[in-house]
Amino acid sequence: MSLQKQSEDGELIIELINDVDDFIQAFDCVSEAFGRQAEDGIWIAMNPGWDSPEGRERGASRMADRWRHTTFDYRGNPNTLFLKATLLGPGGASKRSIVGLAIWVQASSVEGHGDPPLYDLEAAMNLGDIYPGNEPEQRYLCQAISSLQKRRREVIEKKITELPPAVFVLDLCAVDPMHQRKGIAKELVKWGLAEARRRGNLEAITEASIMGRTVYSRMGFKPEGVDIEYFVDDEFSSRKRPANIFMRTR
Ligand SMILES: CC(C)(COP(=O)(O)OP(=O)(O)OC[C@H]1O[C@@H](n2cnc3c(N)ncnc32)[C@H](O)[C@@H]1OP(=O)(O)O)[C@@H](O)C(=O)NCCC(=O)NCCS
Repeated sequence: MSLQKQSEDGELIIELINDVDDFIQAFDCVSEAFGRQAEDGIWIAMNPGWDSPEGRERGASRMADRWRHTTFDYRGNPNTLFLKATLLGPGGASKRSIVGLAIWVQASSVEGHGDPPLYDLEAAMNLGDIYPGNEPEQRYLCQAISSLQKRRREVIEKKITELPPAVFVLDLCAVDPMHQRKGIAKELVKWGLAEARRRGNLEAITEASIMGRTVYSRMGFKPEGVDIEYFVDDEFSSRKRPANIFMRTR
């Protein structure tokens, strides 16, 4: 299912990534938004050297691996979806550029209904590959991400009695700063919410940054509680971490 919309820069197309060659551009877009613009401390820690050629190559290839290894639910739906937003290049060039990316994940604690919640973060996120032999960095990321996704895990576990016993998680959403405030995130979210309905009226959940929360509120997400608290060892307490709030559609 793709979605097309006329914008001031020409036609915006929202569709699933189906070519591995898209991941360098997709990573660049996310780097500009999370690395350079938002200076998101957790994203930066997950992507060491993101602004160097080697870090860019590694980050893009990690995304591509995640895409290649997606699992499927019992109906054959992919559990992880990489959704891209593209516009025609500058000056009306015929090649489309990736200007936005969203990652949507169907998650469930019941086998066959989605990806299980991440308990063993070290293994799930290949932290040993990102920081080989660097125990403190691996521990820091485990603690920071585990705190960030605590409510996500709880909600997934609670869905065990619902039909279907799954949620649709907006795991990442980024728009190239050069193309923000043109409604691109809105379209990436709208696409995901339609897909969540198609998959059995799944509830959508996310952890929303300061920049993201207004977009999601406008699309029907409601904030729950206050900003997420990070539980990390004292040696990491001075590190900068993004303000995030848990949001859900019900
Ligand atoms: C958050 C982000 C994805 C929004 O992308 P976008 O394409 O610019 O968002 P949209 O144009 O669809 O915004 C829709 C509405 O949300 C609100 N909004 C969007 N960005 C906002 C911002 N920075 N501050 C306040 N409100 C904002 C506005 O109401 C906007 O409508 P308007 O422009 O007509 O006023 C983008 O700013 C980004 O990538 N930020 C850095 C990374 C990040 O924080 N990602 C979200 C993680 S949860």
